[in-house]
Amino acid sequence: MRLSRFFMPTLKEDPKEAQIASHRLMLRAGMIQQSSAGIYSWLPLGHMVLKNIEKIVREEQNKAGALEILMPTIQPADLWRESDRYDDYGKEMLRIEDRHGRAMLYGPTNEEQVTDIFRSNVKSYKDLPLNLYHIQWKFRDEVRPRFGVMRGREFLMKDAYSFDLDYENSKITYNRMFVAYLKTYARLGLQAIPLRADTGPIGGDLSHEFIILADTGESEVFYHKDILNLPTPDAKDHSPEELQTLVDEWTSYYAAADEMHDAENCTVGEGDLITRRGIEVGHIFHFGQKYSEKMGASVAGPDGKDVNVSMGSYGIGVSRLVGGIIEACHDDNGIIWPEEVAPFKVGLINLKSGDDACDAACDEFYNKLQAAGVDVLYDDTSDRAGGKFAKMDLIGLPWQVTIGPRGLKSGVVEFKNRASGEKEELSPEAALEKLIG
Ligand SMILES: Nc1ncnc2c1ncn2[C@@H]1O[C@H](COP(=O)(O)OP(=O)(O)O)[C@@H](O)[C@H]1O
Ligand SMILES: [Mg+2]
Repeated sequence: MRLSRFFMPTLKEDPKEAQIASHRLMLRAGMIQQSSAGIYSWLPLGHMVLKNIEKIVREEQNKAGALEILMPTIQPADLWRESDRYDDYGKEMLRIEDRHGRAMLYGPTNEEQVTDIFRSNVKSYKDLPLNLYHIQWKFRDEVRPRFGVMRGREFLMKDAYSFDLDYENSKITYNRMFVAYLKTYARLGLQAIPLRADTGPIGGDLSHEFIILADTGESEVFYHKDILNLPTPDAKDHSPEELQTLVDEWTSYYAAADEMHDAENCTVGEGDLITRRGIEVGHIFHFGQKYSEKMGASVAGPDGKDVNVSMGSYGIGVSRLVGGIIEACHDDNGIIWPEEVAPFKVGLINLKSGDDACDAACDEFYNKLQAAGVDVLYDDTSDRAGGKFAKMDLIGLPWQVTIGPRGLKSGVVEFKNRASGEKEELSPEAALEKLIG
């Protein structure tokens, strides 16, 4: 992509409304634009990152056996009356009336909707287990939307819903999702910690929150320092026994958010207990028959008797992760994208656009990267060099290649790693080799 043809409305000054780094940097890099409180448009650069995160989340859900569907954003209130949550959900739910006076709502979550799909179609234990997910916008009329996409009113969530015959089986599904989450966050370049969590309005008896550490996180977390040394589970398929072993290992270390932390009874030694702030990037729940009982989601069991299925739900805050990753990965100059989610892998800077030799060398470099399928943003504008460098640092692409008249004379380009700041002078061929590999 040539910057001259791209739409990336960057800001030189810090926007006043932004209190935390990710919000400030997303606005400055031209990734999002606020529409109203907690509701954003995603501009090209932001949209690319959102899609990259979504892709990784999707791949890991698919690998874990979940099936992708797409449920609507607008749901009928009647479904929520069946589960008794229509009144319980309170003011966070955006209630809408259609032209016929029917009560509708903009979904804050989809347990009722998916249970309705299940009960209309699945009748036998032979069709279990079933795990359905979608990646869809949610609306929650938060009292205090803030920090940009971190606590929005409209936000993108991956939510999966599992159906099993009994507790034993749904525990296996829960464990499989738990492990899939660890793999997902690792692929996003993040170190996530699973915490024992409160089940809140979704209800149930088993729940974990996944948080990433960041000073600007909304919750205070307490954890045993060694949990950070646990290796990410392998990419392979795990048997139910292996899944249980992994979950046991990860949950054997103390880790809890402030509402669950009990200082009096915490057994972790003083030097081992770390207190920091964290951002909740995922939340999984096992809630058994809570919805299946109320909504009549049952199947014929092996003995022919009807059983209410045992369910769980599994959320990942996809749009929140864009901000979360920036909180975890930035410096004074801007964002530092982990390679897997970066909007482009390479930023190419032409130090003297309009100069024939520079233009030719840059075009050639650009074309070769394009031909090799490497995503590159080419700053071919006539801006000053200082402005170009600052902009590239701000948008945080993993690699920067700078081509200018002086280097060209000695046959070199400058090759920079955004994360470490390390620079080397390389021949264009050697630089291409590193990027195409
Ligand atoms: N207002 C919000 N803005 C952005 N992301 C959110 C918001 N609320 C929840 N999420 C994301 O969706 C995930 C699942 O939500 P859930 O646990 O049901 O919400 P909550 O913790 O607010 O009850 C959360 O872990 C979080 O990453
Ligand atoms: Mg939660």
